[in-house]
Amino acid sequence: MASFKEIHFTPAEFAAIAKVDKSMVPELEASGRLTMTRKRVGNVDRKMVSLEDMQKYFRNLRDLANGSGAVAAGPQMPVESTDIESVAAATGFTPVTPQHRVQMFYNVKGGTGKSTLTAQYVMRAAMMGYKVLAIDLDGQGHLTVNLDILDGHERPTVYDVLINDLPLQDAIMNVAPGLDLVPANLGLCNIEIPLNNKLRREYRLSEAIRKVADQYDLIVADTNPAASILNGSMLVASNLVNVVCSTNPLSFHGMSLVMATIESMQREFERELTVRIIPNMYDNREVISQEVLGELRSQFAEFCTKTVMNRASDMNEATKRRTTVWDVNPKGVAAGDVNSLTEELVSCVRDFSPTL
Ligand SMILES: Nc1ncnc2c1ncn2[C@@H]1O[C@H](COP(=O)(O)OP(=O)(O)OP(=O)(O)O)[C@@H](O)[C@H]1O
Ligand SMILES: [Mg+2]
Repeated sequence: MASFKEIHFTPAEFAAIAKVDKSMVPELEASGRLTMTRKRVGNVDRKMVSLEDMQKYFRNLRDLANGSGAVAAGPQMPVESTDIESVAAATGFTPVTPQHRVQMFYNVKGGTGKSTLTAQYVMRAAMMGYKVLAIDLDGQGHLTVNLDILDGHERPTVYDVLINDLPLQDAIMNVAPGLDLVPANLGLCNIEIPLNNKLRREYRLSEAIRKVADQYDLIVADTNPAASILNGSMLVASNLVNVVCSTNPLSFHGMSLVMATIESMQREFERELTVRIIPNMYDNREVISQEVLGELRSQFAEFCTKTVMNRASDMNEATKRRTTVWDVNPKGVAAGDVNSLTEELVSCVRDFSPTL
């Protein structure tokens, strides 16, 4: 059982992720755009794309689009000019810089899929070569476990940062190439009372994050299922709030409270937050799922992501194996959903009025 940092992709899997034709992979390699690694699979030595190879490929495309790419195009892959459109046209991949550097997954209701989607999102974003920091703000430590960190109870958390003035940098650990984490453990459940007694309590997390923000393309927090001060602090720190709503009636019922909480935080702290609602655990065979999705889209039309996350056993399997859904089944529904969700949230722009 490989963990995320050891993941390797077959040329066909790489081609699907990079949106190029499979037949182009040898050319990409020959032209120096893609490096491949030899990996022993059973009795055979196979050429595979490691996580680092994949990241290098995407970073290179972004450099090319920014005009600083050093590697020449392959014979059937003419990227003569170095603007985003031509790179996208030649490769099928639009190499964007994330529009919102600080993001959070949020819902006061429990069990809607926040930790699962946060983990899958940060791993997928890291695969695309972004430098990502994941922050676990839930004492249950589910994001920490989902990222295969099992000694979180021995490590510093955001508690030490906000209450004991530990620099955030010192609470950061590396999980995989391009992916860092501030882990959480049960001790974080006790943060509310001491945090309440701190001066400028809602600004402390934002100030801590600002000091490390330069090192990352994307900073993504998983939050606890409550209207807590800690979550409020993350709302102050964030640019994009991803509300995960499972497509069941009670989850939908709680949405008005969630949106009202976000609205009052925006007013109180004079923040302009972009909000996205991600419908999760959708089952198109269930009438109730269809009804709730319909209600979400009619009541919160401008906030709903185009991507709907289907209920998929691969997602549970990935949770169990503490890895990415790509590792479980690269051709599965969950891998496709995580892919389009990641592309949507990375390039998500403020395309509607900021007031809710
Ligand atoms: N799209 C999905 N398909 C199938 N199972 C899913 C999906 N999304 C989440 N799950 C499963 O639902 C369960 C709850 O998910 P998760 O722990 O991520 O929710 P949460 O909102 O973080 O919960 P909490 O509020 O307790 O933090 C997990 O077992 C997870 O594997
Ligand atoms: Mg959770």
